[in-house]
Amino acid sequence: MQTYTIPVITIDGPTASGKGTVAHRVALHLGFHYLDSGALYRLTALSALRHNVALNDEHALAKLAEKLPCKFLGDEIWLANENVSNAIRAEEVGNTASKIAALPTVRHALASLQHGFRAAPGLVADGRDMGTVIFPRATLKVFLTASVEARAQRRYKQLIEKGFSASMENLLKDLRERDARDSNRAVAPLKPAEGAHFLDTSDMTADQAVEQVLQWYAAVKKQM
Ligand code: CDP
Ligand code: CDP
Repeated sequence: MQTYTIPVITIDGPTASGKGTVAHRVALHLGFHYLDSGALYRLTALSALRHNVALNDEHALAKLAEKLPCKFLGDEIWLANENVSNAIRAEEVGNTASKIAALPTVRHALASLQHGFRAAPGLVADGRDMGTVIFPRATLKVFLTASVEARAQRRYKQLIEKGFSASMENLLKDLRERDARDSNRAVAPLKPAEGAHFLDTSDMTADQAVEQVLQWYAAVKKQM
């Protein structure tokens, strides 16, 4: 399959597998742009929660997604005039994001926004359907995963560091539910893209995972 002229690396995987951390570091290393596609679903979810939009009102949710007044300023994420970088990381927002992400009209409304991130010199995009739906002709596709216990541990640490309260028991339950919902939905379910490199990071540091992705990218580039 022919790849895009501007290179794209996709990193998909389940929640707390390290996609964001790894994708961000790979992008920094290569000087590429970075798309955190999950943030767009989280922004739509936060907006819905704030405006009391019912989570089964597909039409209203799609409207919110279409007109999302968001800005990505370096590491900061803004919704209208508010820095929501921390607020969108709350588990309630993640769980709501996973629910509305099953709606085809919401996915459709966010697709063109995501395509717009592909710009020179290249893009690293992380999410659930980056390699399967949004950038099917990506130069390199990675499917990142880790055991549910390792992921719950990572998320727990992250939440405590951000000042949220958390319990391992609830996190394990939420992660399992979210995995099932993301993998079993009819539209753009979480699954490895065809030709994706599989990376289980249960016993790896984030830096080791970054190193592996960079090695794969260098190998693909050599063949081009
Ligand atoms: O960080 P975490 O993996 O928990 O979630 P995220 O990547 O921020 O995404 C939040 C939710 O948005 C996920 O549970 C997915 O349901 C949804 N999502 C999606 O459906 N497609 C994407 N490309 C990215 C996120
Ligand atoms: O984006 P996603 O939800 O997949 O995960 P993340 O928010 O990037 O990563 C979850 C946490 O796991 C971060 O605090 C990382 O530093 C840590 N971590 C990792 O990303 N990769 C490893 N191999 C080990 C830990």
